[in-house]
This record gives sequence, C-alpha cells and structure tokens, in this order.
Amino acid sequence: MVIIWMRKIKKFTLELIKEKNLQFLESFSNSFSTMQVTVVLLKPSAVQRGILGEVITRFEKKGIQIVGMKMLCLTDEMVSEHYAHLAHKPFFGRIKESMQASPVVAMALKGVDVINVVRQLAGVTNGREAAPGTIRGDYSMSVQENIVHASDSPETAALELARFFSESEIFTYPHFLHPFTYANDEL
Ligand code: TYD
Repeated sequence: MVIIWMRKIKKFTLELIKEKNLQFLESFSNSFSTMQVTVVLLKPSAVQRGILGEVITRFEKKGIQIVGMKMLCLTDEMVSEHYAHLAHKPFFGRIKESMQASPVVAMALKGVDVINVVRQLAGVTNGREAAPGTIRGDYSMSVQENIVHASDSPETAALELARFFSESEIFTYPHFLHPFTYANDEL
C-alpha cells in the first residue's frame, strides 16, 4: 500500500516537473525515486596518464548515462569547498595542488542508484588497497593520485552538481538502451 502511494506521489511530482518545465530538478536525486545523478571528477592523474577514454568507457559499458561532461581548471574556491571536510588535515595543501596540477574532466552520470554504483566502480580511496577490477584498483598506486572523485551521498551529489555545472550543461535525452539496461519496475 505504501509503495503504491509512493508511486502515485512520484508520478505526480514528475508530472509537475514536466508541466512546469523544471526538468533540471528531475536530475537531482528525489526521495521517491532511485534514479539519481552523481558527479565524477577525472582527476589530473587520469588526464596526465592518458586514461580518460578507458575510465569513461567503464561508466558507459556499465549502462550509466552521461548527462554532462566538460574539462575545467578547478579554482581555489572550488577545491576548498569540495574538500572542506579535509581542510584541517596536514595534507590538505598537497591535495589542493594535485587537483590543480592540470585541468580535470567533470562528469554528471545518471542511473538507478548511480551514486552507490559509481562509488563501487571507483573502489576505496587508497589505490593500493582498492580491489582489482575497480578503477582505483586497476589504475592507481596512491591515495592522492587515485584517478577519480565520486560523490558519496545524494546530498553531496546535489551540491557537487551545482558546484561544477550550470543548469544548461546538464542534459535530458532519451537513453535508448534503457529497456535493455533495466526492468520496468526498476525505473
Ligand atoms: P576522501 O573524501 O576521504 O576520499 P574519497 O575520494 O574516496 O571520497 O578524500 C578525498 C581525497 O583526498 C582522496 O580521494 C585523496 C585525498 N586523500 C589523501 O591524499 N590522503 C588521505 O589520507 C586521504 C584520507 C585523502
């Protein structure tokens, strides 16, 4: 019964978003749906080592939809905000330097439970401890130079989306592989 009501509320919310032309909001995780958008940064370690294509391919092959992607240089303000939870650490200075060593590629990725899925694909922070098969496990020998950043919760995903993308840089378009990626009741 609760599920039926949640589905009705979700349908109503999505219709409202469509009617009011607020598709951008649909991209943010909403509490009635497991369809989410997450942010990945391909760090300077990925850019410099020439593995951008390989890492992006992993997300595509998994069935995740790319709804935003761009190259940018992170400003002091962006890095300070992004890693505010580490600002008190002695290594904060070197992380900042590392994130500004070259441009990064920012991606907005959409899918069911995608925040958790992408964290799993990334692997644990320390590349030396990350499981083989994960991005960090396969491409990194370091804690700092660990190839990717991935949002860790719906709240941080929403903040990071707003931090790195403007509304016009996030796209809503049909994903033709959806019927072969998900069952109807998973969407
Ligand atoms: P953190 O948010 O703890 O990890 P994650 O990226 O897995 O969410 O840390 C952010 C980045 O800071 C991490 O990707 C690499 C760097 N870092 C270090 O260089 N040394 C450290 O001891 C930690 C904890 C992080």
